[in-house]
Amino acid sequence: MILVTGASGTMGKAVLNEVAKEAAKTGENCRAMYRSDTEAAKAPAGTSTVIADFAKKDTLPTALQDITSVYLVCSPIPQLVELEWNMIDACVAAGVKHIVLSSAMGAREYRKSFPSWHRTVEDKLKSTKISFTILRPNSFHQNALTYYAPSIRSKGTFSASMGNACVSFLDVRDIAVVAAKSLAGGEHSGKTYELNGPEALTYSELAAKISQHAGRPVQYVNIPAAAQRKAMLDQGMPEWQADVLLDLQAYYVSGKGGKVDGLLEQLLGRPPISMDQFLAEFANAFGTRSQADAAIA
Ligand SMILES: NC(=O)c1ccc[n+]([C@@H]2O[C@H](COP(=O)([O-])OP(=O)(O)OC[C@H]3O[C@@H](n4cnc5c(N)ncnc54)[C@H](OP(=O)(O)O)[C@@H]3O)[C@@H](O)[C@H]2O)c1
Repeated sequence: MILVTGASGTMGKAVLNEVAKEAAKTGENCRAMYRSDTEAAKAPAGTSTVIADFAKKDTLPTALQDITSVYLVCSPIPQLVELEWNMIDACVAAGVKHIVLSSAMGAREYRKSFPSWHRTVEDKLKSTKISFTILRPNSFHQNALTYYAPSIRSKGTFSASMGNACVSFLDVRDIAVVAAKSLAGGEHSGKTYELNGPEALTYSELAAKISQHAGRPVQYVNIPAAAQRKAMLDQGMPEWQADVLLDLQAYYVSGKGGKVDGLLEQLLGRPPISMDQFLAEFANAFGTRSQADAAIA
């Protein structure tokens, strides 16, 4: 049986949807792991649920009972390494056969920020005898909603210090399809997939696309990194988070985020979801021209 961890989160929820679809076809059961009953109540029909916490080691054996494959993901927080290590130890003890690990672009070479945390977990996983697939995705399409939509709705702009750096955004739903296929092991065992989207965009190009789909002018404003840090802290972001986000951004600014290759399409067996498709679907999240006009009046 498959266990999907982080099932309340952006990535885990998408993986659970894919795994549950497959389970409905085959009649097999799958299990989703949550930390709260409220979130567990949102699990797709037919999915069994378990309440457990990577930080509470005694909760993990029950979550892993009768489990052969695990999708492992955790929030990008400083405790990620310790929390995911706890789960890997529990998987070893429970006799889990295969783990699909949610890692990140840059884990191969960047010794800072989230990529370095993910790399430490990758190394731990590889030190066990458990078969693995590691997924290292580029930036999610969904970040446009999380990070930029609020400022676009209120001001029609979003700011960062990305300059003309490119990002090959990809959709969490496509990563989820790859994760679900990888959970079967087989040809995906021992593989590390660096996943990029179908086109490399600067933030100005992203703003132009958002304008087109939202039907209102949207501008990207380039600001110095120090000003971006101050803005993040002013919005209440903890200092550690502002610093790791800026360290990650420096990796993109160095030109590492704009790779476009055919791997994702090959793994999906169809073209990946493009930024245009994503923005057409979620255009309302960026506000309409009339909403923007009303805000100014
Ligand atoms: N955003 C990007 O562009 C991007 C790109 C590449 C890689 N990534 C990586 O993708 C990963 C997932 O991102 P995401 O946006 O899906 O994160 P998310 O929405 O924060 O989801 C994280 C999940 O981990 C769970 N979790 C946190 N602490 C836990 C604990 N102690 N025990 C059990 N579960 C715990 C959360 O549960 P609760 O709801 O209970 O907190 C949530 O379900 C991150 O590691 C990130 O570094 C992100």
